[in-house]
Amino acid sequence: MTVIAVTNSKGGVGKSTLAVHLAVWLHEQGHRVILADCDTQHSSSEWINEACPDVEAVRLESPDEIIDELPQLANDVDYVIADGPGSNTETSRTLLLFADLAIFPCKASMLEARALAKATKVLHQAHTVNPGRPTAVIVLSMVGRKYRLTQDMVEAAKALNMPLADTPMVLRQIYADAPGQGAVVWQLGARAREATKEVRRLFTEIVPEAKTTKAKPRKPKRKKKEAA
Ligand SMILES: Nc1ncnc2c1ncn2[C@@H]1O[C@H](COP(=O)(O)OP(=O)(O)O)[C@@H](O)[C@H]1O
Ligand SMILES: [Mg+2]
Repeated sequence: MTVIAVTNSKGGVGKSTLAVHLAVWLHEQGHRVILADCDTQHSSSEWINEACPDVEAVRLESPDEIIDELPQLANDVDYVIADGPGSNTETSRTLLLFADLAIFPCKASMLEARALAKATKVLHQAHTVNPGRPTAVIVLSMVGRKYRLTQDMVEAAKALNMPLADTPMVLRQIYADAPGQGAVVWQLGARAREATKEVRRLFTEIVPEAKTTKAKPRKPKRKKKEAA
C-alpha cells in the first residue's frame, strides 16, 4: 500500500482538485483506493461520493484520527490519497509522517513559493523521523495556458530541494466547474479534453508505477446488413 498526501498549508491552491482526480484515476487503473479527507470542510469527500462512489471516502479530521485510523486503512487498500487541510499544520505534520509520497500543489508565483517554504518545513521534520520518506514533488497549479517555467520558480524549487513535476495544471474553467457537476473532468465530455490529457499525463509522471495498460472494452461491432 502507498499513502499519498496532497498538502500545502495554504488554502485554495488546488489540493482537493488534485486529490479527487488522482483517487478516481487510480481507481480506474484497477487499484483499491481510499480517499482520506483531512479537511474539516469535507469538500473532497462530498465531491468524490458523487463523482465515483466506488472510491470509499473517510474523514480524518485530527492528528489523533490520522494516527489511530490511517495505518489500518492503508493496510486494506493499494492507495490512500490524503487530501490535506488548508491551514492546520498539526494535521499536515501528522499526515507527512505516514506518507510515502507528498504532493505539494503550488501556484506559480514567488509569493506562493515563499508560503510553500513554510509548508515544507513539516516535510523536513518528517525526514528527520523517517530519512528519505516521504518523497516529495511540487506540482504547479492554476498556471496560465502560456506559462513557461521561470528561473525564479526553478530556483525556488531547488532551494526547497524538491523536484517540480514537468506537467503543470493549467487554470481552466472546467476544473472549477467539476465539483459543482459532481464529476471529474474526464466525465465532462469534449470540452474537458485538454484538462483530461493534462491530468492523465501528470499522474503518469508522478505515480508511474500505478499506470496500467488495461485493454479498454471495445465497442461491439455493428452487424453488417445482410445482402438482399
Ligand atoms: N486548475 C484549475 N483551474 C481553475 N480552477 C481551479 C483549478 N484548480 C482548482 N480550481 C478551483 O480553485 C478553488 C480552490 O481549489 P481546491 O482544489 O479546492 O484547493 P484547496 O483544496 O487547496 O483549497 C476551487 O474553487 C477549485 O474548483
Ligand atoms: Mg481542499
